[in-house]
Amino acid sequence: MKPIETIRWDDDTSTIVLIDQTRLPLSFRVIRCRTVDRLITAIRRLEVRGAPALGVAGAYGVALAAAVIRERELSRFLGKVEAAAHAIANARPTAVNLSWGVNRVLSSIRRWSTISEIRHAALQEAHRLAREDSESCHAIGDNGSALIADGTTVLTHCNAGALACREWGTALGIIRSAVESGKEVQVIACETRPLFQGARLTAWELNQDGIAVTVIPDSAAAYLMRKGEIDCAVVGADRITRGAVFNKVGTYMHAVCARAHAIPFYVAAPLSTFDPVHSANEIVIEERDRNEVAFCGGHAMIPEGVPVRNPAFDATPLDLVNAIVTESGILRPPLDWDDITRIHRVI
Ligand code: MRU
Repeated sequence: MKPIETIRWDDDTSTIVLIDQTRLPLSFRVIRCRTVDRLITAIRRLEVRGAPALGVAGAYGVALAAAVIRERELSRFLGKVEAAAHAIANARPTAVNLSWGVNRVLSSIRRWSTISEIRHAALQEAHRLAREDSESCHAIGDNGSALIADGTTVLTHCNAGALACREWGTALGIIRSAVESGKEVQVIACETRPLFQGARLTAWELNQDGIAVTVIPDSAAAYLMRKGEIDCAVVGADRITRGAVFNKVGTYMHAVCARAHAIPFYVAAPLSTFDPVHSANEIVIEERDRNEVAFCGGHAMIPEGVPVRNPAFDATPLDLVNAIVTESGILRPPLDWDDITRIHRVI
């Protein structure tokens, strides 16, 4: 399989290099973020997206801030880095990985006393986090592969693949690992309206790897489940609280349908996606622009003046989830939050 590197740091130019996910599958282009403002724009426009990739973007974002802020006095320098970090962490509200990545690098720099030490430490910590993201995805893949029998047809929603992480993926990481171990796997990718991450991105990256993928309208999932054409569902997550899994809007609908048809519903996520602190009703669900729903390919789909709701995520109650695959193993709800909180403190 050809590795896809979604996000990386370029040492020669001190920039963050991203695959522009808004252009796929039509064209493959990369974006170079030279400033924190450009990175924030990339996050808001979904040029870089997906919870683990946002964690890596947040981490490199703090390293970028430290590299570009021109300030000689230490406390003023730190104040500016912190303000930039705050702006990056708040670029999108739902995926916890973004603020987690930002905070991890911020806490790693506080013990240093010169600006050059801080710049160096920020970049080293961001590199470490990026490496760990790859390692977690491969471990999730290997752990989750045990849930996928030879000849399985898997439904997935949105894109929880290499493009949503540094590489390999979470939900698609499980599929890649299963295929790599010699199993035959078919993927049903829900198109994922309104921005088509399933149709554009999941189908693109699986196709690149020669993994069988068929795209369906989101609304066709229940019909195919009833016909017995889907063996299990595997999705990613933007945040997992004590009560619910937050993921791309439509995930809840698939989980309800899967339960109604006795189809296992699995979530794949690194431990950095768990949020032991907030309860489900404290989580902000991002509401995005009307035009994402009201226009498709430049054509108006909705009469002018008719209101639109465009929540980007929904919350699936944990009792609809059969298992959560993490880098440290397969967790089955009800979860042991004391254990998760303990592990969370050290990552
Ligand atoms: O709005 P997006 O494209 O950032 O939404 C992404 C998702 O919902 C993914 O399923 C989630 O981040 C998991 S990625 C491994």
